[in-house]
Amino acid sequence: MAHEVRGVIASAKGAPVSLVTVVVPDPGPGEALVTVQACGVCHTDLHYREGGIGADFPYLLGHEAAGIVEAVGPDVTGLAPGDFVILNWRAVCGQCRACLRGRPWYCFATHNAAQHMTLTDGTRLSAALGIGAFAEKTLVAAGQCTKVNPAIKAEVAGLLGCGVMAGLGAALNTAGVGRGDSVAVIGCGGVGNGAILGAALAGARTIIGVDVDDRKLEWARGFGATHTVNSRSADPVEQVRELTEGNGADVVIEAVGRPETYKQAFYARDLAGTVVLVGVPTPEMELDLPLLDVFGRGGSLKSSWYGDCLPTRDFPMLVDLHLQGRLPLERFVSETIALDAVEEAFAKMSRGEVLRSVVVL
Ligand SMILES: NC(=O)c1ccc[n+]([C@@H]2O[C@H](COP(=O)([O-])OP(=O)(O)OC[C@H]3O[C@@H](n4cnc5c(N)ncnc54)[C@H](O)[C@@H]3O)[C@@H](O)[C@H]2O)c1
Ligand SMILES: [Zn+2]
Ligand SMILES: [Zn+2]
Repeated sequence: MAHEVRGVIASAKGAPVSLVTVVVPDPGPGEALVTVQACGVCHTDLHYREGGIGADFPYLLGHEAAGIVEAVGPDVTGLAPGDFVILNWRAVCGQCRACLRGRPWYCFATHNAAQHMTLTDGTRLSAALGIGAFAEKTLVAAGQCTKVNPAIKAEVAGLLGCGVMAGLGAALNTAGVGRGDSVAVIGCGGVGNGAILGAALAGARTIIGVDVDDRKLEWARGFGATHTVNSRSADPVEQVRELTEGNGADVVIEAVGRPETYKQAFYARDLAGTVVLVGVPTPEMELDLPLLDVFGRGGSLKSSWYGDCLPTRDFPMLVDLHLQGRLPLERFVSETIALDAVEEAFAKMSRGEVLRSVVVL
């Protein structure tokens, strides 16, 4: 039996999103039907609406979610109705060359539900990041559900499903920030502040938040930034160098997704340091760097897919740290909103008024 639920779709490039009826099939083999309890509004949803990720409109948006498993496909084990789960958009396959080499967080063949959700006229929906959770129910691959301690609030747990995890993981997993490191984070939205929190958790000694918005910088200090730089009024490369004894930071995390901020990250880094790109660029963007600088400055230039997280390893651990009072994830939740307020949440995000608006169902 299919389920008719309310969901938020982007029907054309740049057009405002709308709340419509979505048809969600019952789970087939390898799938799970999840009742969504909360879903954060991530910049990637806006990228979808702007046509920056693809042209497979209509998109069913939302991908930063937590909820309760309602039903599972016939062959699904280890997951049952009633389980409280965080949804992930990189369900590892266990069989590709990355998985077989013991590096499943790089999995090259992550999977989603095989069936599609549709509009009532049968139009096939593309689920954002294979999730589509700005909806009362969604259909995902069973591997996209990670069971965690249900004592955590859904609106907080869901954040680990995308932006905050991407930021935490960019610092903890991709950069491997260690005790005593200096770290700069360019772009202090949900992702960047996640990276600041991750750097603080790892014991970084100097943490510099860079943004163009003073409100974001104030929040960054709350997450553990020891210094902040408004890059509208000061050169961020010079400032980061000044704050690191003239050297540049050991690790610079770019959480905006633009060539100019990537260049800032590249030059704000100490010799042999690490740059991590976690911001997502759009197809027309190009990077132009002197190859001699790439060579001469050494170190490593990395990208971070989903914070190189392994949901089964990282979600339950981070939920436990939160429940122990060691990871203040609740500070990312600027407001909770209803499903019909996603368009307004995009506007607030663009104006820099929120870290995360979270749809609560
Ligand atoms: N790699 C991943 O797996 C992953 C996961 C989630 C999101 N993302 C990407 O991370 C990026 C950030 O997402 P978010 O949800 O935090 O967005 P956001 O809108 O909440 O934050 C972006 C921040 O960048 C700041 N900013 C904009 N232009 C700037 C500039 N020139 N210099 C400095 N700061 C600037 C904004 O003021 C804002 O604080 C997006 O590109 C998003 O698509 C990547
Ligand atoms: Zn794999
Ligand atoms: Zn996201």
